[in-house]
Amino acid sequence: MKFPDNFVWGVATASYQIEGAVNEDGRGESIWDRFSHTPGKVLNGDTGDVACDHYHRYKEDVALIKELGVDSYRFSLAWPRIFPQGTGEYNPKGMDFYKRLVDELLKQGIKPAVTLYHWDLPQALEDKGGWLNRDTAYYFRDYAVKVFQELGTSIDTWITLNEPWCSAFLGYGNGHHAPGKTSETDFLVATHNLLLAHGLAMEAYRDMGLPQKIGITLNLSPYYPASEKPEDLKALQRADGFQNRIYLDPVFKGKYPEDLTDALAVIEPLIQPGDMELISKPIDFLGINYYTRGIIGADKDGNVVHHRGENPHTAMDWEVYPEGIYDLLQRVHKDYGPIPLQITENGAAYEDTVVDGKVEDEERRSYLERHFAQCLRAIEDGVPLEAYFVWSLLDNFEWAWGYDRRFGIIYVDFATQERIMKRSALWFKDFLRTQR
Ligand code: FCB
Repeated sequence: MKFPDNFVWGVATASYQIEGAVNEDGRGESIWDRFSHTPGKVLNGDTGDVACDHYHRYKEDVALIKELGVDSYRFSLAWPRIFPQGTGEYNPKGMDFYKRLVDELLKQGIKPAVTLYHWDLPQALEDKGGWLNRDTAYYFRDYAVKVFQELGTSIDTWITLNEPWCSAFLGYGNGHHAPGKTSETDFLVATHNLLLAHGLAMEAYRDMGLPQKIGITLNLSPYYPASEKPEDLKALQRADGFQNRIYLDPVFKGKYPEDLTDALAVIEPLIQPGDMELISKPIDFLGINYYTRGIIGADKDGNVVHHRGENPHTAMDWEVYPEGIYDLLQRVHKDYGPIPLQITENGAAYEDTVVDGKVEDEERRSYLERHFAQCLRAIEDGVPLEAYFVWSLLDNFEWAWGYDRRFGIIYVDFATQERIMKRSALWFKDFLRTQR
């Protein structure tokens, strides 16, 4: 495999999943602190209190990133470190951590790719309604402006939001994620306010005239029909609408999908003059997180049903389907392009074990290799894919699954904080050498 010379390779993490140090240097409470400390919400009662202790070990972790030989490191900022109450008083000590981290990355020649929001909303804002409150979008803009001012030109790539579907649906729709609310309507309200937040940050960024790339990251799923029966195809269209087009259409076309009439009935009254123009401000690239495909059919009442694919599944019970990343890239390129694309996350969880100080994670290695191959195929077929980030650098706090699901290419012993490069990391390192 030989990727284009200017292709950017990276590894990715997120603040709450790795940092720990939740009470340090004036950090405020986030919805994930509250949620993970609520009994029954996270497997085994795990919390992000310590996580990978990255807040204290960031130098060691940057050294590992350097050793891998990647070009870029994607990480997120914890909003409650910077504005402990979400709005109002600024906490320079929290920002200083990110300045130290960015300095260290630049010193090692690694390009910082920063996500502004990877789910750790300040709890104080949730107390005012969180993403159900339109004001949160404006608070997000103010937070983003402060970050743009402070970190400015040292950042290579900006991402406004990570996976608004997860914030909206898992957070307010089915309650599997913080803040754990459960309402179909709230999912849609949160969706619009999140997209508005993205648009407001985009506008502020352009007004400031900053030169680097900025985009948004969506978790998109390529969907395949269970059969060619009309009812299955209809279910497929609906599933695709609620997962993919409900974010893609506003961002690229400035409107919500017209076929989702029930969703529109909720969202349309929320749209204020100018919202859709903000939401569809041109982005420099689209970030895509891809893990698996979906096979969609209808039950006897026409409801969407997910079928199980025939290929091996990961520890998340997600089917391994590398062709899906190719189909997805092609689809986005055709329906929404031309727009530069980045894979901002791709990876797999497996039950790793340490034997004689080594982790032989052949399944993860092969997962990565097969997905790389499909990315290359997409590039060769004309898709403007410019970057790929492995999820994840480290084993970490996998949200509702706590520390039970390991996605790292580097193993973390959570009792000692020892890091061990798994076979997949060693292979990735060798692979990157062949690309230079
Ligand atoms: C994505 C999240 C990321 C991680 C992976 C496995 O949805 O963005 O934080 O949890 O899934």
